[in-house]
Amino acid sequence: MAQHKVIFDTDPGVDDAMAILMMAGHPDIDIVALTTSFGNVSVDMATKNAVYLSHMLTPIVGKKIPVYKGINKPLLYDNTDGFAEFVHGKGGLGGLPVPDYDDELPPLSAAEFIVKTVRENPGEITLVPVAPLGNIATALVLDPELPKLCKDIFVMGGSFYAGGNITPVAEANIYNDPHAGDIVFGGNWASNSAIAGLDITYEAPMMRDWVRDLGRSNDIAKWMAECAEFYMNFYQENRGIDGVCCHDAIAVAMMTNPEMFDCVTGAVRVIH
Ligand code: BDR
Ligand code: CA
Repeated sequence: MAQHKVIFDTDPGVDDAMAILMMAGHPDIDIVALTTSFGNVSVDMATKNAVYLSHMLTPIVGKKIPVYKGINKPLLYDNTDGFAEFVHGKGGLGGLPVPDYDDELPPLSAAEFIVKTVRENPGEITLVPVAPLGNIATALVLDPELPKLCKDIFVMGGSFYAGGNITPVAEANIYNDPHAGDIVFGGNWASNSAIAGLDITYEAPMMRDWVRDLGRSNDIAKWMAECAEFYMNFYQENRGIDGVCCHDAIAVAMMTNPEMFDCVTGAVRVIH
């Protein structure tokens, strides 16, 4: 039985796709579902991309990963200036084409699915949100006992001391729905839960040569390497990094390999 049963809350996104591929290839992870949010792209596009990745990975994971559509805007007010195609490429997957599938999406919303699944599997589900936190915040409002019933949560979002990537101080996932972030960070989650902020995700880029080398290993890796080109160019032009910042995969690594990280414990609030 997989050690980590993960609901991955995502807005794919190049680095989201990398994290999903990483989880699909990990022997200790069962991807229970992908739940989608607006963020890098609209929620419709994020859902289309998640469905595509689910199809792509079916032969690897041996099942069709279900996709639940989530929130399409911030909880309280919209402080976004459109989506981040200038970072992730048109459509969010590096500008690569995304096929249409006629999958019927399940009737539950992302938040409803999260509550139902966590209730049915108390103590077993790990939440890994790597997008604006509206789905998790809504789930928490629907079921305030959620933190107690989840195994743990690993969030990609925020910046404590590293400065921002969408304003000089704000990280995109939290900036795009600060009230949702504040609700989620106020939850009484299991103590091994953690936040992968820019403080840490900027520290571990994957260099372009490595991405290209990996791209020679199989068809899915080839697709991922092509998908990453646009994103790497953005990082090169904007941060002088000749590679990718694997933000969302770092949250996954905090779950699978906590020994790699030094964490600081404390209460977290969102300033906006
Ligand atoms: C986060 O914002 C999104 O652009 C990325 O997918 C990642 O989740 C990084 O700030
Ligand atoms: Ca993301």
